[in-house]
Amino acid sequence: MELSEVDLVNRDTYVQGIPHEMFEVLRHEAPVFWHEEADGRGFWAVTRYQDVVAVNRDNELYSSARGSALIMDQPEDMLAQQRLMMLNMDPPMHTRYRLLVNKGFTPRTVGHLDERIRELTNDIIDRVSEKGSCDFVVDIAAELPLQVIAEVMGVPLEDRHKVFDWSNRMIGAEDPEYAVAPEAAMEASMELYAYANRLAAEKRASPSDDIISVLLHAEVDGESLSELEFDLFFLLLSVAGNETTRNLISHGMLALIEHPDQRARLLRDPSLLPGAVEEMLRFGTPVMHFRRTASRDTEIAGQPVAEGDKVVIWYVSANRDENVFPDPHRFDVERSPNEHVAFGGGGPHFCLGANLARMEIRALFDAVLRRLPDMELAGPVERLRSNFINGIKHMPVSFTPAPARR
Ligand code: HEM
Repeated sequence: MELSEVDLVNRDTYVQGIPHEMFEVLRHEAPVFWHEEADGRGFWAVTRYQDVVAVNRDNELYSSARGSALIMDQPEDMLAQQRLMMLNMDPPMHTRYRLLVNKGFTPRTVGHLDERIRELTNDIIDRVSEKGSCDFVVDIAAELPLQVIAEVMGVPLEDRHKVFDWSNRMIGAEDPEYAVAPEAAMEASMELYAYANRLAAEKRASPSDDIISVLLHAEVDGESLSELEFDLFFLLLSVAGNETTRNLISHGMLALIEHPDQRARLLRDPSLLPGAVEEMLRFGTPVMHFRRTASRDTEIAGQPVAEGDKVVIWYVSANRDENVFPDPHRFDVERSPNEHVAFGGGGPHFCLGANLARMEIRALFDAVLRRLPDMELAGPVERLRSNFINGIKHMPVSFTPAPARR
């Protein structure tokens, strides 16, 4: 592989799997690489661990607000709207919004959900365990995050599949299975907003202690959130917690199936599970990158970067950086230390849902390993066509049928 062959933009690059060879060439030969774009003005691709972390932590120099956190450039009117979402804010504004929801996601608050999450997990497995086969993504991996975020936000369970469908259409707009027209993503977000507003009206009438009720009563600088701000919070929370956790669970299962020796270690010693979950996060990195914009002239690892330049940090590459993770392409459930950046590199935008996601993933693998320990692939793994989300759409599996709990 030559530098001239590197193409991180083309979605087709990712359909067969993460192009780890491309990232390796970049880390070795051009760790801060000017990447041309056919439909954009180009960006700096940052691929080494230490540089990803440095950019991620410096929100003053590398802004999330100026050009949003997404790679594509957008017209100013759309950007203005995007900036109402926490993901696309810089401190001190970001800090004010983040404080509204932080409380709902601390280890302590999330800890109260552990029992409930284990119950939901076992219900999900009950529905497939006697059949001996299923689509792991649709029947298992997608279900748990959907049900959990519905619970945390106060979305009635019967509506959760609508949220699933909308978030698929928004994130997977470039994948032919979910969307045919580029407008589909926009339409899906409009439907989600309309739904959020209906739900808000109901919650205003009868408040409870879920996140939606908290947001409805929240104030920033003495003012409550506008309808659009509320809708964007709803969108961020429902999309951010679903796709990511679903794909991590799918990648984690695939890694266990493809590394039977590692699964055997976990089966022998379940106390290894928390460490194995960290390795799944490193190995499966569901969010491949985020984007920042340089707020003044600077340099990254000696490479001059001009004010206004787009800087894209590739978590998926940092997590395979051979200078930080020895033998980085090996899946090792006992890897230690394992300071991966799957949830971000420790900056102000560090994943709000990290504690919740870890709890879900642990609950799920605890149940799957106990109840369906011999799960195997039963057909081709179908990947999402995206350069942003490292996604698996379908993964047929089979296992020895096991009784549902009575
Ligand atoms: C395995 C699952 C997950 C992964 C890999 C993941 C990954 C990430 C990453 C990489 C970021 C950006 C960090 C940065 O820029 O520094 C992020 C931010 C965020 N995540 Fe997650 N996430 C996951 C699960 C969740 C869940 C369950 C929620 C639940 C609500 C969630 C909510 C958010 C939110 C709201 C943000 C934006 C935070 C901010 O802008 O301050 N995520 N996540």
